[in-house]
Amino acid sequence: MSISLPVIQTPIPADFIDLGVGEPALASLPVDLLRRAAETCFDQNDPAFLQYGTEQGNGYFRQALAEFLSKGYGFTVDPAALLVSNGSSMGLHLICSLFTRPGDLVFVEEPTYYLALRILADHDLQVLPIPTDRDGMVVDSLEEQLKQYHPKLIYVIPAFQNPTGQSLSRERREKLVSLSREHDFIVVADEIYHFLNYRCQSPEPLAAYVNEGNIIAINSFSKILAPGLRLGWIQSNSETVRRFVTSGLLDSGGGLNPFTSAIMRFVIENGGLAANIESLKAEYGARITTMDNSLRRHLPSAEYAIPQGGYFFWLRLPYVDTIEYQKKARSFKVGLNPGVRFSSRKELREFMRLSFVHYSSAEIEEGIVRLKESLDEM
Ligand SMILES: Cc1ncc(COP(=O)(O)O)c(C=O)c1O
Repeated sequence: MSISLPVIQTPIPADFIDLGVGEPALASLPVDLLRRAAETCFDQNDPAFLQYGTEQGNGYFRQALAEFLSKGYGFTVDPAALLVSNGSSMGLHLICSLFTRPGDLVFVEEPTYYLALRILADHDLQVLPIPTDRDGMVVDSLEEQLKQYHPKLIYVIPAFQNPTGQSLSRERREKLVSLSREHDFIVVADEIYHFLNYRCQSPEPLAAYVNEGNIIAINSFSKILAPGLRLGWIQSNSETVRRFVTSGLLDSGGGLNPFTSAIMRFVIENGGLAANIESLKAEYGARITTMDNSLRRHLPSAEYAIPQGGYFFWLRLPYVDTIEYQKKARSFKVGLNPGVRFSSRKELREFMRLSFVHYSSAEIEEGIVRLKESLDEM
């Protein structure tokens, strides 16, 4: 059957290299892994997974996930602290629905994940940016703002941040946790890149602090398995989990994604998730080296720190307006993501985000050559 209706969010023409996109390559999506797990699930001959699910999410899946996380995080994760979600975006949306009112104030990192800004805008929330440096959000600056403002939420990406690739230092994490108690705000920790560490250990997740501060950790299988699963999880203390579980949405809908989570249980139990992460790490880690070498060779004016994990290089090109650069680059059939999109104050015009994940090493090299050619014409 031939159809012209769209299926995926970002179709990219075959001759275009879009280093701006933040999604895995189609070829890296684990079709066989999911097929095998789905077969195992269907072979149980138990139709319960097609029923309305329990509000908190399939118990077998939460048990398997808790064991996986306990191993990965290095501390015991209780399945009772986990709630099944449709991914990090949905997690943030649900938190905004339940814990904020229009006009409330949210602090975000500057720069931050631009689509999180869109979700906050959907809820008519006001946003105040907090600067970041190589150790993540500058918590001293946050503390300064707390003298004047009372945010409801602080949205932070503590490991291998999008777009900067930086992680929040341990000292700052601890300070943030204690500030959340002292000033009564919720820290929404989007830990979606936590397991994609290539050159260092992952930092201790903020999920470790759910019983010590007002922390809600959100996470997802989008980057470690496949975005189309629309599956993720929320981790928090029992009172907060109860608030989610008693929401009208989860009651009316019978939890989120019982079908996919029933299948995912087997992907985790049979070791498929851990194996997939290992193979992604080997592949992506090598692509960082390629992108770094290509940048040094072809774009020597770019300033950046080599990412230790995650998906992105965050680059500063002195005196280059990256909105204009993006337009020029398009005519050379290469894409980039301009910094201004990641700025809640519409600044950072000299910055851009490039992803090293979506393309092979050869395509990355070619993409950087095209970026050089377009920059030469600016
Ligand atoms: C920081 C961050 N949060 C959330 C998302 C989207 O997550 P999900 O697919 O789980 O909704 C992304 C995707 O790029 C991201 O970078």
